Amino acid sequence: MIAKDFLSIKDFTPLEIRFLLALARQIKANPSTYSEALKGKTLALIFEKPSLRTRVSFDVGIHQLGGFSLYLSPAEINLGKRESVYDVAKNLERMVQGIMIRTFAHRIVEDMAAYAAIPIINGLTDYSHPCQAMADYLTMWEIKGKVAGLKVAFIGDGNNVAHSLMFAGAQLGADVWVATPPGYEPKADAAEWARERGRETGGTCTVTHDPVQAASGADVIYTDVWASMGQEAEAEARRAVFLPYQVNAKLFGWAKRDAIFLHCLPAHRGDEVTNEVIDSPGSVVYQEAENRLHVQKAIMLELMKDAAVELPELARVAELARV
Ligand code: CP
Ligand code: NVA
Repeated sequence: MIAKDFLSIKDFTPLEIRFLLALARQIKANPSTYSEALKGKTLALIFEKPSLRTRVSFDVGIHQLGGFSLYLSPAEINLGKRESVYDVAKNLERMVQGIMIRTFAHRIVEDMAAYAAIPIINGLTDYSHPCQAMADYLTMWEIKGKVAGLKVAFIGDGNNVAHSLMFAGAQLGADVWVATPPGYEPKADAAEWARERGRETGGTCTVTHDPVQAASGADVIYTDVWASMGQEAEAEARRAVFLPYQVNAKLFGWAKRDAIFLHCLPAHRGDEVTNEVIDSPGSVVYQEAENRLHVQKAIMLELMKDAAVELPELARVAELARV
């Protein structure tokens, strides 16, 4: 086991991130080999925000590994209101073997991990979305054959998805550019962490207000909604501010000729991305969505399986990966 929990991309070494991506590729290529890997184990899915991909991919993923899932809706748990985070953790650890949580404050997943003896997986917080970033880089690796040295341009809001993209890019030696309107930059601590880790891996992290500078020569153009879950009241005001950051054919045209388009989805077509881009041949958003399933199976397997994987094995698999 490489860690008890999967809370942030930052909690792992570059080798561990590469190992998880390599394992995801193995699982994707040979799913039947892993069909009893988590036999009889139960994963609780706590959702305090809506979801399509995260719910379906964890639900299907744990079943494909021989286990079960238990969906707990926002109305059922009411974390911290009906019952404290501590009490939820102490109850669930007696009945299930893992918990995935989608919630608001990042602190809640950290507290849950500190209180519960079982693995906790971050299924999105206001600060980060690590499972998404793993699927994003798996997709880039599949298509581009490598990640190190790729120019990855995130254009839009410096949000949870941007943070995890920066963290994982730094772990894998990518050159991540984030272009946002003034006032919507990623958190300074996230950029600092990415630059620091990049000094080890060769990765870089550049924050700008110029979308053309970010898109120019990029291998990957990425965007996300302008108003995230919980920011619905700001949506109208944000639309005017973010319009110059729309990923349309003109902006996408600054990228390399073989550039790919990524979006974590759900997309607001006509806002952050136009149909001409999301439906273009360079768009791989559904492959990216499918990869949530494969990468999360690797994460669940590592966290929830009985026997520990020895480090030499981890090093061997990651070395083979050459991500
Ligand atoms: N990308 C993503 O997490 O999608 P959902 O919000 O539908 O889970
Ligand atoms: N930034 C978006 C991502 C959705 C998967 C949100 O938090 O709503």
